[in-house]
Amino acid sequence: MQDDSPPDPETWVFLNGTFMPLREAKVPVLDRGFIFGDGIYEVVPAYAGRPFRWAEHLARLKRSLARIRIANPLSDQAWLELVRALIARHSWRDQFVYLHITRGVAKRDHAFPKDASPTVFAMSSELLPVPAVQREEGVAAVSLDDVRWLQCDIKSISLLGNVLARQAAVDGGAVECIQFRDGVMTEGSSSNIWVVKDETVTGAPLDHRILEGIRVGLIESLCAACGLTFRTSALSRQEVACANELLLSSATKEILPITRLDGHPVGSGRPGPVYARLYQAYQDAIAAA
Ligand code: PDD
Repeated sequence: MQDDSPPDPETWVFLNGTFMPLREAKVPVLDRGFIFGDGIYEVVPAYAGRPFRWAEHLARLKRSLARIRIANPLSDQAWLELVRALIARHSWRDQFVYLHITRGVAKRDHAFPKDASPTVFAMSSELLPVPAVQREEGVAAVSLDDVRWLQCDIKSISLLGNVLARQAAVDGGAVECIQFRDGVMTEGSSSNIWVVKDETVTGAPLDHRILEGIRVGLIESLCAACGLTFRTSALSRQEVACANELLLSSATKEILPITRLDGHPVGSGRPGPVYARLYQAYQDAIAAA
């Protein structure tokens, strides 16, 4: 039988200086990313071909590299060209680019190798809109104890704690978790969390216990534009449970309402007015970028 359907568009990736089809990209098993999780990453959304908040993502990538003492392998211009070239190879309107740098390939030894050069990998995926039902009804979350390490401000590829936290959410019939360390809210498995009380939007303090999402600064400016008060502060389980609204933010989910926590409705149990204002402001920021 003849198959007239167009072939799947090829997914291209970048590995150590070369663009190649995804299926051809291979990394040696002694890569320290594979052996130790010794590397960092970034996730950059791109709308209509344009990376969104690129300067902020690049700055965080450089901060993460410096924190784990990997010399930045590319210039600012080369990073931007790489991201643009990867986006241009795919026809999806909106994409998210994944950048991944490891300490490179070396004989297995925990200490840094003397002469390894970093592995640089990049890929792009289609950025699909969050399902309409999640935007209309919100998502469920479960609360969890945060048992991760104490350098969560590094965007490390060592994500076992985050993986287990996300799976605990899925096992609990939820989309995300809200983690607490010593009784204080930290973040989700792969998102920042926001507590809305009246006209105030509060996030966790920006310290070693959370990743400073690129949407944190964005939400601060969106709050200013919407006439909302923005602050960061230590939040107890009680304050989270009594929120009028809970929100999560990330590169791929933008801003999303959490309407059930541990099986109980959050506020009215429906996406609230602060979510509606911030989500609209977020879309306006994308359109204006
Ligand atoms: N995760 N906190 C954690 C632990 C995260 O993994 C993420 C993002 C965020 C939000 O950061 P940003 O606003 O820059 O996306 C907060 C990405 C999307 C991921 O790992 O796929």
